[in-house]
Parts: sequence; C-alpha cells; structure tokens
Amino acid sequence: MSDDHVKIFDTTLRDGEQAPGFSMATGAKLIIARALRDLNVDIIEAGFAAASPGDAAAVRAVAEKIEGPRICSLARLNGADIDAAGRALEPAKSKRIHTFIGTSPLHREAKLKLTKGEILARISDLVAHAKSICDDVEFSPEDAIRTERDYLIETVQAAIEAGATTINIPDTVGYTTPEEITDLFRFLRANAPGGSDVTFSTHCHDDLGMAVANSLAAVRGGARQIECAINGIGERAGNCSLEEAVMALATRKDFFRVSTQIETPKIFAASVALARVTHNPIPRNKAIVGKNAFAHEAGIHQHGVLADKRTYEIMDAEAVGMPSNSIVLGKHSGKHALRSRIEALELSATPERLDELFVKFKRLADAQREVTDADVVRLVTGSNKRPGRAGPWRLRRVELRVELDEDTPPYARIGLEHENGARQTVTCEGEGPFDAAFNAVCAIAGVEGRILTLDIHHVAGAEDGIVRAEALVEIGDQEFLGTVREIDVAHAAVGAFVVAVNQAIADSKVAAA
Ligand code: KIV
Ligand code: ZN
Repeated sequence: MSDDHVKIFDTTLRDGEQAPGFSMATGAKLIIARALRDLNVDIIEAGFAAASPGDAAAVRAVAEKIEGPRICSLARLNGADIDAAGRALEPAKSKRIHTFIGTSPLHREAKLKLTKGEILARISDLVAHAKSICDDVEFSPEDAIRTERDYLIETVQAAIEAGATTINIPDTVGYTTPEEITDLFRFLRANAPGGSDVTFSTHCHDDLGMAVANSLAAVRGGARQIECAINGIGERAGNCSLEEAVMALATRKDFFRVSTQIETPKIFAASVALARVTHNPIPRNKAIVGKNAFAHEAGIHQHGVLADKRTYEIMDAEAVGMPSNSIVLGKHSGKHALRSRIEALELSATPERLDELFVKFKRLADAQREVTDADVVRLVTGSNKRPGRAGPWRLRRVELRVELDEDTPPYARIGLEHENGARQTVTCEGEGPFDAAFNAVCAIAGVEGRILTLDIHHVAGAEDGIVRAEALVEIGDQEFLGTVREIDVAHAAVGAFVVAVNQAIADSKVAAA
C-alpha cells in the first residue's frame, strides 16, 4: 500500500454502539456492516467479543457474512478477552485483534493499580498471545495523549517487539489539539524503535469538538489509519466522523496529499441506514450528511447557486450520494428561487403574476418555517392539487392505538375512500402507530413502501390548520413527498402518507389498487 493511502478503520459497531442510545443487535449490525462494505472501508471493528454473548455473536455474524473489509474485534489486554476475540473472528477471511490497556498515570494508578513495569510485561506477553491467534494485531495504549512521552515510547516498542502491526494512539478523552497531536505523531514515528515497520493510527474523541480536526492533524503527523464512525457516533460526544474526515481528505487533497479508498457516493446511504437502525435522526445541520448540508434558503445564496452551484458549494451533493443540491424555499428566499421552483413544478407565471405571488409567498414563509412544493402549487393554482398529480384516495378515518404494556404492538385502523366511491377500512400493526397507519394506507392502496422521514410541526398563526406534516416515503424505487396541514397530529401525519401514496399512483410509478 502506498504511503499516501490512509486506511479507514470504522468503529461504528464498537465504540459507536457503546454510546447510550446507539446499541445495536446482530441484525442491525449486519445492516450497517453491509453499508460499510459498500463504502469500501479498510477495517470494520464489529464489536467487543468479550463484552457479552450477544456481542460475540454479532462479531461472528459480521465475520461470517461480510467479505471485503478486514473484520476486527476489540479485546482488553488479557487472555480471556483475546481468546474470545479470536473465536468470534474465526469465520472471517481477513481479521484483526485490537487489544488495549490504559497507560496514562490516571489509568495506571486509579483504574488498573499496576506499575509501569507490570504494564510493559503484560504488553509483551499478551500482544504475543494475540499474535499467536491472529497475524494482524493492533495495540492501543489507552489515554495515550495523557501518557508521559518517554513511557509511551516504551509501551509502543514493547507492542511492536511482540508482533503488533498497527499502533493506535487514542485520545480517549478528547483532550488534545491539532498542533499537539501532529507533533506527537512526528515524535513517535521518529523515536519509537521499529516504528517504521508499523502503521500508526489515530483515534480521537469529540469532547471538545475537535475529533475530526485532530484526526486530520494526526495524518499530517504521519498517521496512516483513521479510526472513525458514521455520523461521528461514539462514547460521550462521539468519535471522529467518518464522512467528515473522508470528505476533508478528498476535498482538500491539494493540502493533505493523501487518499482513502472510500466510495464516497455511498456515504449518505450509510448515514441514513445508521440513523434508521438506531432511531437517532441525523441533525439537520450535520456536516456532509445533514438535510441542510447542500440546502440554500438565503436569497443571495440561492441566486448564486442557481447561476453556478460552486459559488456556495465546495463539494457536489452527488459525491456523497445526496439527491442533488436543494433550494429550500423560506422567508429568506428570493424571486429567482420562487420562479425556478414554479418552473420545476411544470407551472408558469408571467412576470406580473410572479410579483403578486412573491408577496403572498413571503407572507406564507413568515407564517411557517418552510414553503413546500405543495404550498407553491397552491399559491400558483389556488388548489391543493398539482395538475395531473391528484391520486384516487381520500382519508376518511384515523384511529391510532398504543398500549403501554410491551405485549400489545401499536396498531392503526385507517379508512380511505376511492374516487369511485368505494370505501375500505383496514387495521394494521407496526413498530409505532404511524408505521402501522402507513402499513394500512399501503394495504388499501395496494402498494408496497416504507417511510423515510416524517416531520411534524406546529405552525403558529397559519389560517388553514395548525399542524403541518411532511412525509417522505419510498414506493417502488421512487421517493414521494406528501405535505398536509390539519388541526391534529394524527390526521396530518396519515394525510401526508395518503398524499404521497396518491402521488405515486398518479405518477403511474406503481400499480394502482
Ligand atoms: O477511546 C479509546 O481509548 C478506545 C480504545 C479502546 C481504543 O476506544
Ligand atoms: Zn474510543
């Protein structure tokens, strides 16, 4: 591998899932492992085999089913953990044991109650033991950043002599700074005996919001592996975010002069998959993958982007797999953006009419956070229905039920009326009441789909309804957006599903019932 290749070691399934609210069972881990394989990460840290029988089974399942990346398990520096990692990794074509022990004064004295010499002896014995099970061994001196430099060198030397091929330098508590970590990596590479034969790796936490900056700075100091996680998940404030580090290296290749093997167009899918399986939505303003990352609302920005998107975008949305750049209509938008959206919706307005519409548009934008396509259609046509897009179904009945006991799944009873007058009522179960309602709408309409996002907002001061729901659903291989305003949450959400399903039917992308 050339010296400008930076390996991406993904720890979403280990450090990432250690964080409260992110734990993943085997099925969820496999979904993410497939997304990581599609991203072409170099190494997947699939879990911590000794942590629980469930985690051992998850590591084994990933080792069995995922080919391409090297599969890794974490292990504390003791025989039982290392053996458990070795067993779980057995089916993997290509594997790694990652073993660690605390080396900073605090870890030695307060946590481990071991002397420097005792720790060095353990490193020598147990890294060698790991090496006897697996040829590829990574060693981490935990809390390396707060470890005395001369002692850090001794631990690194002991691990290399015992057979470690990757030396990871964790900033366990997110304490370092970019300048400091660049200097530390330069120091280790220059002074650790045997250091030129191993890969130095960086593993930064985000307690001070510097995990990505520190990881990139470590690369400047000679690190050739970045440990990171999708959406930056991980202990406490998280780990270095994979998508941010990878896109920084790609976008500023002129500066960093290194590359990764990541298939960047697969980034968005991996990020969405993680948000979905862990039920943690991607923050709207998240770099690279947030809904706003390539969205523009301010009039001046929209004008620039419509003329040439490079005016306000340093990356192509397509490069990270996001559906192209989006102009969001809101109170900061200008007339250019409104006209462009009207045309994109295959509608038209003379310049005089556009002036009138623009006044109404600003009023509407003041009353609600975002003006959707449905709002624009209503402004231009005076109707809720986009010409030629109305579908056959109307919502007639909504009943949602959630029991507090765990044995009764949430269910929904939904009634729809077809434009030919026929009515149907169906009861479905689901993971939640809205999921159940969507299943019922699909069952009646005879389509198969899934909810991608459901946003519900209270709209203060709007004239025709106080709850606005926007449902993005996938039907067939297409996405459809339904937006509705109603006076209650249940009717708004289910109404939005019906609008989206109607659009799918009207667009003839799926078979009508
Ligand atoms: O943050 C840390 O120190 C770790 C080690 C186990 C590498 O996650
Ligand atoms: Zn960590």
